[in-house]
Amino acid sequence: MRSLSKLPELYGTWAVVTGASSGIGASFSTYLASLGFSVVLIARRIEKMEAVTAKIRASYPDVSVKVLGIDLSSSTAMQDMALGVESLDIGLVVNNAGVDLVGNFLKFEQAEHDQVMDLNVKAYTHVTHFFGRHMATRSLPKRGGMIMISSMGSSPFPYCSSYSSSKAYVTTLGLCLAEEWKPLNIDVTVIEPGPVETEMLDRSKNYVNVKELGFILMGADEIAQFSMKAFARSEKRFTPGAMNRVMQFVTNLLPGQMKISMIGNMLTKHIKAERIQYRPQTSSEY
Ligand SMILES: NC(=O)c1ccc[n+]([C@@H]2O[C@H](COP(=O)([O-])OP(=O)(O)OC[C@H]3O[C@@H](n4cnc5c(N)ncnc54)[C@H](OP(=O)(O)O)[C@@H]3O)[C@@H](O)[C@H]2O)c1
Repeated sequence: MRSLSKLPELYGTWAVVTGASSGIGASFSTYLASLGFSVVLIARRIEKMEAVTAKIRASYPDVSVKVLGIDLSSSTAMQDMALGVESLDIGLVVNNAGVDLVGNFLKFEQAEHDQVMDLNVKAYTHVTHFFGRHMATRSLPKRGGMIMISSMGSSPFPYCSSYSSSKAYVTTLGLCLAEEWKPLNIDVTVIEPGPVETEMLDRSKNYVNVKELGFILMGADEIAQFSMKAFARSEKRFTPGAMNRVMQFVTNLLPGQMKISMIGNMLTKHIKAERIQYRPQTSSEY
């Protein structure tokens, strides 16, 4: 395993974290700073990122921090990001910003499913492409690194249908690029966390309590630390947490459809009761 403290030497000192205003992204930002990386924080809520910045500056005064308030799913996002990082030689990217949608697929409007696809798929691809091109043009011996935050839900997860599908995309994209970018000296690690105590989980708690499903919740700091260790070990795909890996191993032994039905049955027993009046969409709404 490569030493964590040597990573800034290998990849260069600037790292980018998307979705850095809370949860896993905020933890990655602080942990990267502790390893000696200067960090660009990207998300929409500037005041939250200022708080992360203050924490980093107080503990690691030698690193630099830059905050970019960008809505990654907006049409100008990539231009804004290019402008914000123009003078910086970015060597490591934590592609993390994401939204979930937990509940019956039909309960949500199409615009809500669009939000998932716009951020988790489209913006995700654009961020990967933008920094991939940048890192591919750097001169050796500097390597490039991309950490792609997917989810254990990248396997079909009923009642999180569009989110789960978007994470399947992230995992597949990351695993393809891990191979494709070998000659470019860009290292890719796909991270597939189970449930993590963040704002995302908090938002879905009215619908499903993941503790009742038998998951052990992890903290965002643990995810950042275990993920960076997996990246340093050059793992291509990693699920933080021994219990999550056991669960993944056991359920992967089941035939595909049986695993999906098992998750679906488990969720139907635990989801909070909801009675939905489906409102038929009229042609004028399309
Ligand atoms: N929590 C879990 O159980 C869990 C499990 C597996 C995987 N994950 C993945 O981990 C990643 C981080 O999630 P989290 O759990 O840390 O949740 P979180 O606390 O809600 O963080 C999501 C981050 O994404 C940012 N974001 C959302 N929409 C954005 C947009 N349009 N433009 C720019 N940034 C945006 C948010 O910042 P702003 O609101 O300030 O923009 C926030 O910083 C996600 O990709 C998620 O799918 C989470």
